[in-house]
Formats: sequence, structure tokens, C-alpha cells
Amino acid sequence: MRNAPIGVMDSGVGGLTVVKEIWRQLPREAIVFYGDSLRCPYGNREPEEIRALSFRILDFLVEQGVKMLVIACNTATAVALEEARRRYAVPVVGVIAPGARAAIAATGNRNIGIIGTQATIRSNSYVKTLTQTQPELNLISRACPGFVDLVESGPLDVTTTLSVVAESLQAFQGSGIDTMILGCTHYPLLAPYLQEVLGSQVKLISSAEETARDVSLWLTEERLNRLGFDDPVHTFYTSGDTRKFVEIGQAWLQRSIDVRRYDVWEGAEGVAVTKERS
Ligand code: DGL
Repeated sequence: MRNAPIGVMDSGVGGLTVVKEIWRQLPREAIVFYGDSLRCPYGNREPEEIRALSFRILDFLVEQGVKMLVIACNTATAVALEEARRRYAVPVVGVIAPGARAAIAATGNRNIGIIGTQATIRSNSYVKTLTQTQPELNLISRACPGFVDLVESGPLDVTTTLSVVAESLQAFQGSGIDTMILGCTHYPLLAPYLQEVLGSQVKLISSAEETARDVSLWLTEERLNRLGFDDPVHTFYTSGDTRKFVEIGQAWLQRSIDVRRYDVWEGAEGVAVTKERS
């Protein structure tokens, strides 16, 4: 089991922000990644559907013999993490608690902004997690439903991206936040635009770094660190366009990746999950 890969999932390419950090902190670990770009975005869907989509992918990763699952998607973490922990025998790591922790550590004035998908913001998961640890916080949260499509359709057009970002972040103008939680794993890919609109005084918090730290702690605690000196082999699956995935993935990860197309719903009976955009 120690030399088994870590399974990482997202609705699309956003989870690669977490993969990059796992690679940086744990370069010896092998990864199997699944991104459901065909059905992305998840964030506009109902919780029941997000749960069904997420469990199908997590089941697939478990079938690949992974030693740990990382839900590198805030939307799926918000609606499926607790159930996933009951459902699987391997440890399951989400991205919301790590992101909240990083934000509490970063804020100086306790004014924190939270942006995420509609499903994540509606779930109130960040607000609950943050205030459990630190009740004295001023929190402003907003859904930014247009951001994920911008990232998935990459490469980004500067003018369009800046205007979508500026419009979506209007609520934060003059709000006094000193920290902004990027509550969607796709958003770090928009970081330069977010920073430009919010100003350099606002710290952008991606949960990737803290999530990779959680992965590291779990591996140590469960004695699951990979042994041996051979190079880890990574496998990337997407249900969408492999060319696009490679293009966005390689630009972000700064190394070449081999991507396979596989739809976890192929061959499944009685399932009519289509790519819907709202
Ligand atoms: N990357 C995902 C997240 O962290 C989901 C984006 C989406 O599919 O809407 O929320």
C-alpha cells in the first residue's frame, strides 16, 4: 500500500493547483488525477448531483488502488467530504479546512473575503469552518460563477478576463479585507488578475499549500509514505479534451504530462448526466 499512488480529483483542471503543491512538498509520491472537464462546472449544480458525480470519480480512483484520496475541489469538498470519509477505507483529504486555516494565519485585521462557486458559497462551509476556529471575523463571501469557464476554456484573454474579474469582485471594493480565500481550486490560475483588481494589499489564499501539508501529515501518521528510490509515475485522466487539458496543465505545472481520456460514466447504466451550463 505504501507505494500506491495518491488519488486526486476535481471537476476539471483546477485540482492541478493542488497537484503542483503535492509535487513540491512530496516529490516522491505518485499521483492518479481525474478531472471531469466534460461536466465542468460542478458549481452551478445541485448538491445531490455534485455528490453523485464526485462519488463516481472517487470510486474510480479507489478502483485504481490509491492509498489516499484528495478532493481537490471546494464544491465537492463542501457537499461530499464527510460522506466520503465514511464511505472509503483510505484517508480522504478536502480543501476547505486547509484553506480556512491558511486564511486565519494570514489575516492581520480579521476582515476576510471568500470567493467560490455558487454551490460552495451556498453551503456556507467556509464561514462555518472559519468561525468555528475564530468567531471574531468579518467575512464577506460571493459566488463567482463565470471564473471556472474562463479557466477551462484557456488560454486566457487578458481584456475579457480582467473585465469578468473586476465585475465579479465589485462587492469587495472598499470592504477593507486584507485576505481573500480563493475558495475554488480553479481560481489560483486567475491569481494575477485577481491581484490586479483587489490590489497588492490583499493576500490571496489558495488552499493548495495547506492541503498538501495535510496530505503529508496523513501519510506520516498512517505510515503511508512511499518507499524506494524509483521515480514516481503519474497518471492523468480527463473526461474532456485531452489536448486542452495538456495545454492548460503543462502551462500551470511547468512540466510535461501524459493525459488519457476516460469518462467514468461510460458504460454505466441508467445514468443521464450531461454537460449542462447555467
Ligand atoms: N474546482 C472546483 C472547486 O474548487 C469546482 C469548479 C466547478 O466545477 O464549478 O470548487
